[in-house]
Amino acid sequence: MKVTVVGAGAVGASCAEYIAIKDFASEVVILDIKEGFAEGKAMDLMQTASLNSFDTKITGSTNDYSKTAGSDVCVITSGIPRKPGMTREELIGINAGIVKMVSASLIEHSPNTIIIVVSNPMDTMTYLVHKTTGLPKNRIIGMGGALDSARFKYRLAEALGAPISDVDGMVIGGHSDKGMVPLIGKAVRNSVSVSEFLSEERMDQVVQDTKVGGATLTGLLGTSAWYAPGAAVSAMVQAIACDTKKIFPCSALLDGEFGLSDLSIGVPCVLGANGIEKIVEISLSDAEKAKLAESAEGVKKTNGLLEL
Ligand code: LAC
Repeated sequence: MKVTVVGAGAVGASCAEYIAIKDFASEVVILDIKEGFAEGKAMDLMQTASLNSFDTKITGSTNDYSKTAGSDVCVITSGIPRKPGMTREELIGINAGIVKMVSASLIEHSPNTIIIVVSNPMDTMTYLVHKTTGLPKNRIIGMGGALDSARFKYRLAEALGAPISDVDGMVIGGHSDKGMVPLIGKAVRNSVSVSEFLSEERMDQVVQDTKVGGATLTGLLGTSAWYAPGAAVSAMVQAIACDTKKIFPCSALLDGEFGLSDLSIGVPCVLGANGIEKIVEISLSDAEKAKLAESAEGVKKTNGLLEL
């Protein structure tokens, strides 16, 4: 299993680190446009190998895509991150050009690769990769729901006063502050609905805190998050590499599923060796359906800004 991570910024480096620590890939190649940056990050990470007990070989390269040849999975983190007060949608102008160029270069050297898109606005960048590369739709996956669900579970555990391992929940919809749809009605503590433990008001607060999970962090850090995004990508790469068939909410190109078409948005997906192996059409309440439809409208509006 060879994995390429494009972008040696904080998210890309975190992603490479978590993949290496889990020790399921033989090779991780990090690429960056800044001279020497990816090489430096790769060297720093390799110097942790004996300490963190991994054998994954990490190399870095300044924009030489020939080094990525034969990658099974490529992760695109390139582009600019948001600053405090910015929405993910505001990044579209700069990031669309970068993501288009990066995805084309990756496919040139790894025609059979699976691509995971992290760059924002993520659902629109994923749609752009679908529209411009012509890869089969199971091989282009947007990372958002895995991260948003992790943030949801963190907030749920906090509200419940429970260990995170006792909690399960999922966020579908667009990866934006307004578009996220945390499925609070389906969230459980050890198979018991969280509504048995939490008031309506507390559940609303959990939903609200989850939706602005990234924005809250961006306000504190001055730039967007990296540990949780990196961990979320690495979990998806692991599911593909180890063919686990685990369900993650991912941004997938829809063709009628959930009554939606011609957009990429967060829905539950089975991940395995073939990328998105199945979109799982879970039943939604009328309120959840309405929220997903509204979220889809928001994503389509942003997609409309693309020059395709
Ligand atoms: C975030 C970025 C990765 O939500 O979109 O932190």
